[in-house]
Amino acid sequence: MRITTVGCGYLGAVYAASMASIGHEVLGLDVDQKKIDDLKKGIAPFHEPGFEKVLTEALASGRLRFSTDYADAADYQVHVICVGTPQQINGSGADLTYVHAAVDALIPHLDKCPDGRSLLVGRSTVPVGTAQILAQKLKDAGTDTLLAWNPEFLREGFAVKDTLYPDRIVYGLPDDGAEAAEAKALLDEVYEPMLKADTPLVTGNYPTAELVKVSANSFLATKISFINAVAEVCEATGGDVSVIAEAIGLDDRIGPKFLRAGVGFGGGCLPKDIRAFMARAGELGAGEALSFLREVDMVNNRRRDHVVNLSREMLGGSFTGKKIAVLGAAFKPDSDDTRQSPALYVASKLSGRGADVTVTDPAANERVKTERPNLKVAKDAFEAAKDAELVLLLTEWDEFKQLDPVALKEVVAEARFIDGRNVLNPAAWREAGWDYRSMGRP
Ligand code: UGA
Repeated sequence: MRITTVGCGYLGAVYAASMASIGHEVLGLDVDQKKIDDLKKGIAPFHEPGFEKVLTEALASGRLRFSTDYADAADYQVHVICVGTPQQINGSGADLTYVHAAVDALIPHLDKCPDGRSLLVGRSTVPVGTAQILAQKLKDAGTDTLLAWNPEFLREGFAVKDTLYPDRIVYGLPDDGAEAAEAKALLDEVYEPMLKADTPLVTGNYPTAELVKVSANSFLATKISFINAVAEVCEATGGDVSVIAEAIGLDDRIGPKFLRAGVGFGGGCLPKDIRAFMARAGELGAGEALSFLREVDMVNNRRRDHVVNLSREMLGGSFTGKKIAVLGAAFKPDSDDTRQSPALYVASKLSGRGADVTVTDPAANERVKTERPNLKVAKDAFEAAKDAELVLLLTEWDEFKQLDPVALKEVVAEARFIDGRNVLNPAAWREAGWDYRSMGRP
């Protein structure tokens, strides 16, 4: 198939390279010249394990090209919208500016592909109802192009694997039966290797496909906030949330994943998706149905503030002039993405209240330097912790999980530690002389 991906961020660039790797001819389009120049040279504009290898191999195969000129899309049959849908600056809904801009830019170049009828595929996470609006937009513009919705479920840090080996594929198809069959046939060709490998395929109409995505992310967010709420109760009673998570996770109706209590969820997806879902339900008169997501968001925010409050308590009631090391800045390990990062939220709060904060992150240091110039940045945990009166672990990178408590104690001024991700062995750290605290564990 000849496929364009419109938007070359995490989603689009990984999708473009992955689709080329399974044999398609792919054109990656983006309005950002620097990003396109980097991608053409095989340079990943973000940290994503395994991506540069697939990218360079796909470029070498001759099946992957990048461009900023939308007119280049004319020869391609399937156009996949992969642009971002961030939270609105002045609201909690999703900002669809980039989606509409992408479709508007494509429209003049549709219906020109010699291979046959074109298909526009939405992969961005959008409020329910968007696909219908875009389908109408295509009709109003007089194009013959079909539209399908095909949400993505990739996780940062596993983006290539999740794109090439998804655990399910979802198609949102037109209501018209003949159009639905035509769109499905094109998508089946795009995903032929995955379907041959028996990847489950779920089909529905546009709103169903749009809702699958936000429901999945809302469920994951709810699971995390649930266990974090239990952690709060553990803190009031002396229970151990890790043991509770292990015990309830053994029930296969519940399952062990996404039950890691800690400083909460962040990133460019979960926080904004639950808010956009609530906002959209409100617009549709179904706001009450999702009011529990407000609680999910509140529990999540409370965990961040809990870490700030615990820091103050451990420092004797004041932050002024106190030297604090924060291990982690990305919203999760194996990523340099700092959007809605719990670690950066806490670091900035501590700094704003007068502490002398040094952050270190294996991948996000450069980002922190540009985005948060008020924070000091160190090359590693030992440099960050030098003379610190408190050390916080807020992103569970492997290199932090392997820290030696005896060696780290040598460099700090006071051996106080908050394990905001419950990844260290409390006994080992206490035996080494640390005042070690974690989230919902005695
Ligand atoms: C999330 C979803 O997991 C993907 O399926 C989805 O495709 C993606 O959003 C998206 O919408 O594009 P991602 O944002 O990469 O993926 O990150 P997750 O792995 O879901 O982690 C989100 C946050 O939850 C992280 O801050 C992580 O530290 C936190 N988390 C995760 C916990 O605090 N506890 C857990 O048990 C699991």
